Amino acid sequence: MQSLLNKKIVLGISGGIAAYKTPELARLLIQEGASVQVVMTEAAQQFVTSVTMQALTGNPVFTSQWDNSISNNMAHIELSRSADIILIAPTSADLMAKLSLGLADDLLSTLCLARDCPLLIAPAMNKQMWEHAATQRSADRLHHDGVTLLGPASGFQACGEVGMGRMLEPAEISEQVIAFFQKKSLVGKKVLITAGPTFEAIDPVRGITNHSSGKMGFAIARAALEAGAQVRLIAGPCDLPTPLEATGKIIRTNVVSAKEMHAATLAATNCDVFFAVAAVADWGIAKPAKEKIKRQGDGSPNMEFVANPDILLDVAKTVKTKNGKPSPYCVGFAAESTNLETHADEKLKRKGIPMIVGNIGPDTFGSDFNQLLVMDASGSKKIAKAEKLHLARQLIQLVAKKI
Ligand code: C5P
Repeated sequence: MQSLLNKKIVLGISGGIAAYKTPELARLLIQEGASVQVVMTEAAQQFVTSVTMQALTGNPVFTSQWDNSISNNMAHIELSRSADIILIAPTSADLMAKLSLGLADDLLSTLCLARDCPLLIAPAMNKQMWEHAATQRSADRLHHDGVTLLGPASGFQACGEVGMGRMLEPAEISEQVIAFFQKKSLVGKKVLITAGPTFEAIDPVRGITNHSSGKMGFAIARAALEAGAQVRLIAGPCDLPTPLEATGKIIRTNVVSAKEMHAATLAATNCDVFFAVAAVADWGIAKPAKEKIKRQGDGSPNMEFVANPDILLDVAKTVKTKNGKPSPYCVGFAAESTNLETHADEKLKRKGIPMIVGNIGPDTFGSDFNQLLVMDASGSKKIAKAEKLHLARQLIQLVAKKI
């Protein structure tokens, strides 16, 4: 599923070394279904050529406001009228200053002043330039004027220095552009999510775990962020990247065992929605060995198991009524090999929660696809097979209506 299908993006490029990453950004936006129209400043052409951008986007690149290839010779009006957004990456300190003052002395700045669509900018500059009071003033003014700032990030810079001012990576910019277009149904809400497997140690090198990849939980975290929520993600061992990390709206806590996941989750129940997506081990080893257990001939070690705490059950016990609704609104998950509907219904009642989501089909572990059965007091509803992110977005909209 492409997340930017039918979206028209004017991609502005200003003069900065980070422009070497813009071709990759254009490629990612197009991959998601967007049509991309590039506008470059004169300085940008010192860093990346219009030929490269034209070849990647399949559209002629505009570099001057005196371009007679546009029928009425008003590129600044034509281009902004047909766009869903203008995205500028990189945005130099100079261009930020110009935009904040409403100056319009070349095609890109004129286009921004004449636009009737949202403007998103990805600043990129040396850290001294970013920290300068004048640039900070520009950033504040632009923010106040309704411009969305994507980054910058901190890190290694082309000048050899380390600090704030790096342009976000193309994948992060593309992720934030996709998020920009999603329905904002959870603004001001806090969402808590457990995701991934847990690992129960037998000794320092061995343990018991399961095949959960964490993909469904991470997709729900991303969809909640896209909907405008503040997210707390408690993740078992999985090496997935934190979704939309650069927005600063997600806090991730990595845990290993079910007990650690229980402690981290119960410390964060001050939230509006809780999604228990993690595949938590039902049992842990009573006394994990301090040293690696040595093989003893043909014999096998005896292990005593202890039941792990039920995180969802314990969070459900903390639920209070807020504005006549249960808070946090708890959503459980059920991965069953047989009789999904019966088992899911039994879990709903046993855990005292308002909604449970069943993974339909045996092939969901590790896959990017899934299909869901959502059950609550009003009955059950199937969400057809799709990418986990697409399912997560639908689930978020369902839950948003409940709270
Ligand atoms: O109890 P059962 O494993 O059948 O239920 C699955 C649901 O309960 C999932 O939402 C899972 O994240 C949650 N769970 C939990 N803590 C456990 C076991 C399951 O939060 N110890």
